[in-house]
Amino acid sequence: MEAVTAAWERYAAGRTPRRTHNAAGATTWLNWTQYADHGPDESVIGEIHGRRVLELGCGTGCNLAHLSTLGAQCVGIDIAPTQREKAAARWGHLPGLSFRTAEATEFLAAHPDSFDVVLSIFGPVWFIDPTTLLPLVRQSLTAGGAFVFSHKPPRPDPQPGEPLREARAVSRWDHSPCKWAALLESARFANITTEIIDPPHGEREGTLVVRAEAREERIGRPARQS
Ligand SMILES: C[S@@+](CC[C@H](N)C(=O)[O-])C[C@H]1O[C@@H](n2cnc3c(N)ncnc32)[C@H](O)[C@@H]1O
Repeated sequence: MEAVTAAWERYAAGRTPRRTHNAAGATTWLNWTQYADHGPDESVIGEIHGRRVLELGCGTGCNLAHLSTLGAQCVGIDIAPTQREKAAARWGHLPGLSFRTAEATEFLAAHPDSFDVVLSIFGPVWFIDPTTLLPLVRQSLTAGGAFVFSHKPPRPDPQPGEPLREARAVSRWDHSPCKWAALLESARFANITTEIIDPPHGEREGTLVVRAEAREERIGRPARQS
C-alpha cells in the first residue's frame, strides 16, 4: 500500500490546479471527462440536495465542492495526503463538505449503510479490483442509492507493429460497458446504465460513464409450516 500511496503522491505533485472559472463563468462545476468544458453535468447522478455523498479519490475536491454548493452533505476521501491538504485549502470554507486521507476499501468497510450517493471520477473504481470494491460500495450505500463513476473506455489491443503500452505504477481495471454491467449486477446493483461520451472535436478517446443503484432487497420470512 505504501508504494501505491507514493505513486499517487507523485501524481498529485505533478498536477496543476483546476481553473477558478470554467468557460461558462462558473466557479464550481462537475466534470466527468478528461476534457475541460465537456460532457454531462451533475444531472447524471439524480437527486443531490440533502443527499449524503461520498467521493472516492476526490483529488483536490473540485467536483465534490460543486455538489456541496447544490445542498449535498459531502465527504471526499483520497489516499494521497497532499490531495486532502489542497482540497481543504481551496474548499474548506464550504458548509457540509469534508475531506479525509483514507484508502477507499478501508474507508468503505468502516462505513456501512452511510451514503445515498457514491462517486468515483477517474478514481479508485478504475484502480481497485472490482470483485473487492463493488461489494464494499454496495454495502456503504442506502437501498436505492446511486453509484456513478467514470474513466477512459478500454482501448483495443495493440495491432502488430504498434508500440506496446507503457508499464504502469498502479493497476487499472479497463472494463468494457458490458463487463461493468455484469459485475455490478452480481454485486447486487440494479438499473445499470453505461454510456461512452464522445470526445470533443479533434480528440480520439471518449469517456465511459456508468450509473447503477443499490438494489432494494426484501428479506423474506421463511414460510410457516403447517
Ligand atoms: C486520476 S485522479 C482523479 C482525481 C479526481 N477524482 C478528479 O477527477 O480530478 C485519481 C485519484 O484517486 C486517488 N486514489 C487512487 N487510489 C485510491 C485508493 N485506493 N483509495 C483512495 N484514493 C485513491 C488518487 O490519489 C487520485 O487523487
